[in-house]
Amino acid sequence: MTVEAHFDQPTAKASPMLHGLMTEEINYSYDGGLYGELVRNRTFFTDWEGAPYWRMVPKGQAKATVAVEKTGGPSAALPHSMKLTLESTGTGGSAALENEGYWGIPIHPHETYKGSFYAKSDGAVGTVHVAVTNDETGAELASADVTLDGTGWKQYSYELVSHAENAGEKNHLVLSIAKPGSVWFSLVSLFPPTYENHPNGFRPDLMEMMAAMKPTFLRMPGGNYLEGDHIKERFDWKKTIGPMVDRPTHRGPWGYQSTDGMGLLEFLEWTEELKIQPVLAVYAGYSLQQEHVNPGKDLEPYVQDALDEIEYVTGDTSTKWGAERAKDGHPAPFPLHYIEIGNEDFFDKSKSYDARYEQFYKAIKAKYPQYELIATTPVTSIKPDVIDDHYYKSAEEFYADVHHYDKTDRNGPKIFVGEWATREGSPTPNFGAALGDAAWMTGMERNSDIIVMASYAPLFVNVNPGGMQWESDLIGYDALHSYASPSYYAQVMFGSYHGDVIPKTDTTGDELRFFSSITKKTETGEIFVKLVNATSDPKPVTVKLDGVDHVEKIADVTTLKARTLSATNTLADPKNVLPVESRFERAGTTFNYETAPYSITVIRLKTK
Ligand code: AHR
Repeated sequence: MTVEAHFDQPTAKASPMLHGLMTEEINYSYDGGLYGELVRNRTFFTDWEGAPYWRMVPKGQAKATVAVEKTGGPSAALPHSMKLTLESTGTGGSAALENEGYWGIPIHPHETYKGSFYAKSDGAVGTVHVAVTNDETGAELASADVTLDGTGWKQYSYELVSHAENAGEKNHLVLSIAKPGSVWFSLVSLFPPTYENHPNGFRPDLMEMMAAMKPTFLRMPGGNYLEGDHIKERFDWKKTIGPMVDRPTHRGPWGYQSTDGMGLLEFLEWTEELKIQPVLAVYAGYSLQQEHVNPGKDLEPYVQDALDEIEYVTGDTSTKWGAERAKDGHPAPFPLHYIEIGNEDFFDKSKSYDARYEQFYKAIKAKYPQYELIATTPVTSIKPDVIDDHYYKSAEEFYADVHHYDKTDRNGPKIFVGEWATREGSPTPNFGAALGDAAWMTGMERNSDIIVMASYAPLFVNVNPGGMQWESDLIGYDALHSYASPSYYAQVMFGSYHGDVIPKTDTTGDELRFFSSITKKTETGEIFVKLVNATSDPKPVTVKLDGVDHVEKIADVTTLKARTLSATNTLADPKNVLPVESRFERAGTTFNYETAPYSITVIRLKTK
């Protein structure tokens, strides 16, 4: 098998933004995932009766009642509250509201947790005792007393300092009162330390895993989550900004209520913390249950919403929405280059997308000619700047399709592979999937002159029972631990070693389940040779680099391999399949390399 790269012939320029991230609220990606909030259903949302994830526990001989009140909450956005009444204490009794968290409340030894709640009372209750308590022993791992002040709605803050000896998540949050009277609660919150200690911020382990992928962008906020099942359940960005108490929350299309604690600004701050760019997807008038907005007059308010959203992201503080962003705590505008109009509009049976895209395109380009506008399916009304293609396939299907973009018209729209994944393995993909991914990535990399961006999806899954709505997700976690799938490590390898020069490459010999791509990084002179052997046998390869004067003998090599396609990582065994670093000492402008069975290899050659 010979792979020959022609650096002596005209080369193409690779997109610097090829590797990025796509997420949405699916599989408890934000609530119960990236978003640091530990209290589940903090706003006492109920679509039936009672408030899920909360219960009332009377202690001793106490007599107590609890009820969700659907009006009179702390704000117009949050009309609900939970009324806890302690009628009588008996001897030393009390009444508590307990929250089970997102499959537990994770507590680490000697950490400080920051909490708050809105409360109003009848004036008799006095103090609320807040604690995180172990489910089995009932031991309080951290606690604080909060004295209520007056009777009207007010936000109270508290801190819990853990004196737990070990980390654990089998805990719950307790709010208890010991004097007869009534207290109403809303927006009960508890945060652990977050990434870079950002208030209302993100889970550090997941941020670190994303940073290690060396992404360049985040496609946000979806996916189906952008559209919602119904128009009124779309990601209505104006309802996701400002103080939490003014965010009404909304039902996402994956079967659960979203807190919207991760609102538009939090998405943008996430990109800022990872030093990447947002790819802003704007709602374009189609929701999943076949509801659409007719192009023309009906669509105008949605187009205006998108223009306002772009101004919120990029406008300076002299603009209306730039000023709003500054009021929300972020005066500096965010960088933006790509805007996506909708999501997967090929599902819209009304076939209205062509005209909807055109309407958005003309309005956005008139005000912001500098941005590139992505269409979610081909349109004929206007030439889109970029088309978003999605692929969910088996490894064998990807193997058969690695040349998909080799002949794509270079004068047509550019390509964004905004969602793709090899769907083998659950909840997270196995090594066979990683091979499918790596094969597909060689094809994307070889064509990254036309493929400007690509993002695997979905990124996250909470692996607890009931946490997953979509199988094969890149990173898995529970409340306390997280792990990365073999596919994740394939992403890290491709994201870390992405050159800017693509030579024409010829492959000869037995190409069965063997894939490769070669790029060069001009800045450092490194050449990255990626070899994917998806067979169960070792495969010798001759690599020839035409037009390269000198290659150092010693090269660094990263290899990800496994004995079987089913090999995988889990929460219990997170390091079963990991990349291994080694040195190769016989590199040159032509060299032989034997790839291991079932392996993904990146050889980093030094040319200066
Ligand atoms: O990634 C899961 C879903 O797949 C996305 O929400 C949607 O865009 C696609 O159909």
